[in-house]
Amino acid sequence: MPLTLHPIGYLRTRQQVKFQAGHQPSAATEESSILELLPGCGYEDALRDLAGFERIWLLWWFHRNEGWRPLVLPPRGPVQRRGVFSTRSPHRPNPLGLTPVPLLGITGRTLFVGACDLVDGTPIFDLKPYVPSFDSFPASRAGWIDEVDAAMSGPPQFTVTISPLAEEQGKWLREKWGIDFTPRMVELLARDPSPHRTRRIKRRTPTHTEIGCGAWLAVFTVIEKTVTVLSLKPAYPITFLMRQGYEDIPDRDAQVAFLAVWPSQSSIEPPAFSG
Ligand SMILES: C[S@@+](CC[C@H](N)C(=O)[O-])C[C@H]1O[C@@H](n2cnc3c(N)ncnc32)[C@H](O)[C@@H]1O
Repeated sequence: MPLTLHPIGYLRTRQQVKFQAGHQPSAATEESSILELLPGCGYEDALRDLAGFERIWLLWWFHRNEGWRPLVLPPRGPVQRRGVFSTRSPHRPNPLGLTPVPLLGITGRTLFVGACDLVDGTPIFDLKPYVPSFDSFPASRAGWIDEVDAAMSGPPQFTVTISPLAEEQGKWLREKWGIDFTPRMVELLARDPSPHRTRRIKRRTPTHTEIGCGAWLAVFTVIEKTVTVLSLKPAYPITFLMRQGYEDIPDRDAQVAFLAVWPSQSSIEPPAFSG
């Protein structure tokens, strides 16, 4: 029997694409976001007494997802499929997300929350207070995640260098458009630059590899333990960017402007992700 849920509100954040959202709130790029609860539902009263809690749980819907898979390829660790219920993957039979966030303040039916791993417009179904004595069991075993953490506890295996062109392009994106995916990209490449579907790392030629960073790609080479990022480019081909009906592509205007400066950097196929 289907059960019906109704959103109580929507999250507003500058995290427009999934890459920016981080895999958990600790890896998020934005310090704060706004949760607006819907008017006319009595939510002002429902929020009474919540302000005293330092953190709250958000229960939400992975609304930018398509379908689910019993086995998924988590972004961290070796290339190994895991049962979806042993992961926090968005690709679940009921795509419900669960995130603890700092509660920074409440005004009327608007909540100000700290770093979170949700993208802009995510529907929220429920809020609950985070209660350390109920919700925290820091000594609990964490299965395969403990094993991956142990393997990754050493220093990163690769040194990442950025070419002058990629440096210039990164600076242009930061200064003109406020777009900065370089720190996260460097962190991922320093750990493991090998091809990986979930990490959106794809070998293009025997020497050149690409990593998807939201609406952008970085082209790099790997020689022994050194990764060199050669250039950045829009993930969408120019034909897509200019097409009618595609105005909502993330960072569309920035991608079009980028191609006016670096026209040879147009992609040849649309990215294998939904933003
Ligand atoms: C790994 S999931 C973890 C979510 C939550 N903390 C949990 O454990 O259920 C977080 C990722 O979901 C993706 N994401 C965030 N908001 C989304 C949305 N509304 N629809 C689909 N995917 C989303 C982003 O890629 C983000 O990095």
